[in-house]
Amino acid sequence: MSKLIINGPTRLNGEVCIQGAKNSVLPILAATILCNGKSTIHNCPKLSDVNNSLNILRYLGCKCSFKNNIAVIDSETLHCCVVPDSLMLKMRSSIIFLGAILGRCGSAVITSPGGCELGPRPIDLHISALKRMGAAVHEGYGRIEFNAPNGLKGTTINLSFASVGATENIILAAVTAKGTTVIHNAAKEPEICDMVRFLNSCGAKIYGGGTDTITINGVKGISGCSHTIIPDRIVAATYMAATAVTGGEILLKNVEPEHLTTISSVFCEAGCELKCFEGNIYFKAPERLKNVSMIRTAVYPGFPTDAGPLVLTMLALARGTSVMVENIFQNRFRYVDELRRFGANIRIEGKIAIVEGVSSFSAAPCKCTDLRGGAALVVAAVAAKGTTVISDIHHIKRGYENIDTTLAMLGANINEV
Ligand code: UD1
Repeated sequence: MSKLIINGPTRLNGEVCIQGAKNSVLPILAATILCNGKSTIHNCPKLSDVNNSLNILRYLGCKCSFKNNIAVIDSETLHCCVVPDSLMLKMRSSIIFLGAILGRCGSAVITSPGGCELGPRPIDLHISALKRMGAAVHEGYGRIEFNAPNGLKGTTINLSFASVGATENIILAAVTAKGTTVIHNAAKEPEICDMVRFLNSCGAKIYGGGTDTITINGVKGISGCSHTIIPDRIVAATYMAATAVTGGEILLKNVEPEHLTTISSVFCEAGCELKCFEGNIYFKAPERLKNVSMIRTAVYPGFPTDAGPLVLTMLALARGTSVMVENIFQNRFRYVDELRRFGANIRIEGKIAIVEGVSSFSAAPCKCTDLRGGAALVVAAVAAKGTTVISDIHHIKRGYENIDTTLAMLGANINEV
């Protein structure tokens, strides 16, 4: 099992080019199932979640290649509609394959995703929407089978919560359904807009991506296209947080500042300087960070739950008290126990974290609990005095391409062993 060894503290300085967004590429890889011919996906990050998605596509019969951050998928040869348990379990977000498989094959079999590191992961919204579109659903022995032998039918779906995954699954199922599907209270995340852009370039008729009402006019079929994945806003937030806690100064290249406005405003309030220009952000940390007013995680364009662990780690080193309310996932704060090993003073009361900033961290052995919680430990370690050993880094590899060499280029003393 590999580990990250980080000797701190070191002030981060330099330039970093932000990778393609994980949460954009995963649904787009699923979407290629609907395409005739080849889809070429550029700026595809090298992540274990991407490899797992490609393995699902291969299992289903698609031809896939992945080289130099370009993934090419040919779904013409797809012959299977079952995602086996072993592949489902590797990645809870494999649920986004459901809508595309059902749309393409008229049936889909997945295993129940159960819970994950962040808490329960229900898929009731996905299931009820697909039922409304005409799918018959049978559950048993840990498997869920969806059947729509005569194809899915467009309908109106009112989501009780603006779920990212449910919005994506409904769009994917609706692309080739008969008639028009309207999603009310749709999620508005930039990654959904990216998937909509991909699908529309392939010939889909989707309107209103990025608003809370999305309309999909079903088409007979779509053809693969060439698409470039948007930059990962959470990875950008990670390098900002790591720079903030080390008093550094960096240039973030290949970013979309508009996707980062809520996150950027928290960094500004903490005393950081941000200047946005042409897909770049110049970021400079103050000598000492300040506390910020209450942060509440919310659906986009609110403060993203995925940036919570990174910003909370920064606030643990700020002057004064800050409060974060986690409204999306029940078990999001599991990484806080690990942060306490560095000397962080954080109290958790239900979904609220109360952070009393301390002036410094000292290194400690620690374990990743989940993807963003793991990245938060890396942020803590670059600021901490001494040698930190972080284990269970497979969580980090789900979402970060070369975090070790990227931070090393910015001046961190970091090695994977
Ligand atoms: C996506 C992101 C994840 C991010 C999350 C919230 C991907 C691959 N993952 O996950 O990184 O943290 O959005 O921004 O894009 N829920 C239900 N029933 C459902 C579906 C969801 O109760 O049928 C609940 C979930 O338990 C959770 C909340 O809704 O509490 C948010 O989930 P959702 O927006 O669906 O997140 P994901 O698509 O799983």
